[in-house]
Amino acid sequence: MPQLLHLDTSADPVSSVSRAVTAHFSDTWHSLGADHSVIYRDLHRNPPPHLPTSALHWAPHLRTSDEVAPPEAEALQKELIDELVSADVLLVGAPMYNWSVPSTLKAWIDYIHVPGITVPFDAPTRPLEGKPVVVVSSRGDQYGPGTPEFGADHTVPQLQQVLGKALGMEVFIVTVDLTLASRVPAMAALTPQAEASLADARSAVSDLATRLGS
Ligand SMILES: Cc1cc2nc3c(=O)[nH]c(=O)nc-3n(C[C@H](O)[C@H](O)[C@H](O)COP(=O)(O)O)c2cc1C
Repeated sequence: MPQLLHLDTSADPVSSVSRAVTAHFSDTWHSLGADHSVIYRDLHRNPPPHLPTSALHWAPHLRTSDEVAPPEAEALQKELIDELVSADVLLVGAPMYNWSVPSTLKAWIDYIHVPGITVPFDAPTRPLEGKPVVVVSSRGDQYGPGTPEFGADHTVPQLQQVLGKALGMEVFIVTVDLTLASRVPAMAALTPQAEASLADARSAVSDLATRLGS
């Protein structure tokens, strides 16, 4: 039974672009068959608390004797990691907020990136190795080569580092650029480009959902 873990993080409940694109992925996934299930987490509506202690960054056997984790936080960490490990595919809606990812997504990452459990430390522990993850990165501006803000995107490189390099997941990035073109008068001329970016993203996630779910 192929299972998708779908995370949304946009703080916009009305017109979020990342939510619309991840929903399109999820709908395509569902359309592949009744056995294609989805676990949904809205990290904006139900944010994980900040790590209450750095002890949670380490597997229990790697903690020092004075590093103690509250049981409820440890239970949440186990729930989040188990959910991720048992999913076949991870889908993440990741808007750009102040050139980085939403703090709710960062908090989730802090719970699931754990030496000795999800990344190797004293043993080759890597339960997420090769698991596909599709990141939908929505951003008001554009950050590609040749644009004035090239190099200022600290969302995609961060997610590639932690999900791909550290956890060993297979990362697929789908960007939606210029989402503020319809709101900011000075960007009005970029509206056709923004619309094309959204259309490309919808097409990319539908292809990815079909490929990864088949
Ligand atoms: C708190 C906040 C910070 C933002 N910071 C940036 C930014 O640094 N760069 C950018 O290009 N757009 C920025 N934007 C615009 C969002 O990236 C854009 O509206 C995007 O579409 C948000 O994703 P969503 O449509 O899924 O909510 C910001 C928006 C908000 C609400």
